[in-house]
Amino acid sequence: MCGIVAYSGDKKAYDILLQGLYRLEYRGYDSAGICTLNGSHFDIQKKAGRIDALAQLVKKKPPQGMCGISHTRWATHGEPTNDNAHPHLDQSGKLALVHNGVIENYQTLKDKLLAKGHTFHSQTDTEVLAHLIGYHYDSMPESPERLLNAVKKALLEVTGTYGIAVLHTDRPGEIIGARRGSPLILGIGEKELFLASDVTALGAYTQRVIYLNDFDIVQILGKNYTLESLNQSSIDREICSIDWDPESTDKGEHDHFMLKEIFEQPASLENAMRGRLDLEQATAKFGGLNLEVHALRTIDRLIITGCGTALHAGMVGEYIIEELARIPVEIEIASEFRYRNSPLDNHTLAFAISQSGETADTLAAMREVQRKGFRALGICNVVGSTIARESDGGIFLHAGPEIGVAATKSFTSQTLVMALLALFFGRLRHLSSVQGREFLNALKKLPEQTAEILEQHYRIQTLAKKYASSQSMLFFGRQANYPVALEGALKMKEVSYIHAEGYPSAELKHGVIALITEKLPSLVICPQDGVYEKNLSNIQEIKARKGPVIAIGTQGDKELKKLADDVIELPQTHALLQPILNVIPLQLLAYYTAVYLGRDVDKPRNLAKSVTVE
Ligand code: M6R
Repeated sequence: MCGIVAYSGDKKAYDILLQGLYRLEYRGYDSAGICTLNGSHFDIQKKAGRIDALAQLVKKKPPQGMCGISHTRWATHGEPTNDNAHPHLDQSGKLALVHNGVIENYQTLKDKLLAKGHTFHSQTDTEVLAHLIGYHYDSMPESPERLLNAVKKALLEVTGTYGIAVLHTDRPGEIIGARRGSPLILGIGEKELFLASDVTALGAYTQRVIYLNDFDIVQILGKNYTLESLNQSSIDREICSIDWDPESTDKGEHDHFMLKEIFEQPASLENAMRGRLDLEQATAKFGGLNLEVHALRTIDRLIITGCGTALHAGMVGEYIIEELARIPVEIEIASEFRYRNSPLDNHTLAFAISQSGETADTLAAMREVQRKGFRALGICNVVGSTIARESDGGIFLHAGPEIGVAATKSFTSQTLVMALLALFFGRLRHLSSVQGREFLNALKKLPEQTAEILEQHYRIQTLAKKYASSQSMLFFGRQANYPVALEGALKMKEVSYIHAEGYPSAELKHGVIALITEKLPSLVICPQDGVYEKNLSNIQEIKARKGPVIAIGTQGDKELKKLADDVIELPQTHALLQPILNVIPLQLLAYYTAVYLGRDVDKPRNLAKSVTVE
């Protein structure tokens, strides 16, 4: 949700900033801007639209200088226009600011500044913050900490969230960065320093980073930096190493990141299992739960919270964990949970699931559990993310960077981790070693079975064309496949903009059946499991009303072929793991439909990859 890149070093800043913005474009893409310090004045270029639009401007007149800040925006306050694009200047025009987050009290601050004669050129909360910092700067005596102190003073007046980078024409080589609620990372190169919202912008230049915490402020001065906190004067933060290859953030041979990431699933599933299968004890093992076995045995309730796709993975987890471990699981939508007063006790363990580890609602839900003094574990993909760092322990997905705004490989990895947790808790309780081994054997086959499904992509591409003109689509599934129906509908909405809804199959007759006509396709997930016959009846009900049916079924199912208009046949696995395979054709169907309709698959309208505002 908005991306920031800042640079100070011995190279031309604009190129590094522009390349960094391209890497962060998935965070927001409605306008972008660059500001460099060229001698004693700013070179500023900003433009509504994608980074490409900004790049055209920059090519014509490259901003000069070796120090600069930049931003790609996901609008919160004010439409995506040139005026609202960042960076924003203060009243004097000598201070520039880029900002990720929301200044909640911006109107009050703006009114005070207006009363002092300030004039504003945008509708953004960010411009108000730029003016506030500039106002304090102008009223302070000269000192090496003048800009730093002005930023601190302004931030103490602010309520809301921010990740910021600030530049001033009087202070060559100096950039101030600060964060509260929006991620910011300091990259440390040989003779250069960087700020970025995400390590993907830095991987090409340095592997050494410091993840800033809330209230941290960094002062960059040429190749030196100092770190402080708004609460205490000096702080010590560990320098971490980025552990992935920068090339993994390229599309490679694929047209889109979404397709690349769908096709990476055999490998990402393998990586989620690596080192975690204990064949001897017929269980799963985890390095980072930070809980002793006897404490884990006392857990009698799990809370799983997250948003969007991560929430759907948690919902699948509820079915698997309750079945294998017999522990009651509550699924909580993070944006609701954070404001509820849910009763917790010492025998409850909470899990926050988030690919990015930065989703504001999920982070707030996790913090609410911790504020009450209870433990919350994280299930994240991004190492170094806020949830990963603030949780009391947890499990990494090791899926590699997910750039496509539509989450794909993170869903299957999250669901797999849920299955591993279910096995682990199950083996601490009632699950026999024979049952445990059976489950492990099924887990081990998943990567190969996933690859087998991906080979059917041509067929799914043909189906996508057949149904692409639909105004709306319904997705049905039962039991652990109900969340897969929700996920299939979410994918379809997100990338193709076709209206789609997911339902538990049996809910059909409680209302939604009124919508069925020959023009409304239904996708029914119908594997040969314990509710197979029930699903067949639902398909009959749809067909009786002339509704077209695409069925996701088990290889060789002749009965299903007789009933459905189109069948996608999948290999069979343990019934509780079937959702991991069933979602893959749904991801492909959404992808190919979107491509056929000419949608911007990796950057669907109005969306951003990580939602770091409420
Ligand atoms: O990074 P997170 O897993 O916390 O993100 C949660 C949701 O914002 C995310 O899954 C969103 O729904 C995706 N765009 C779905 O494709």
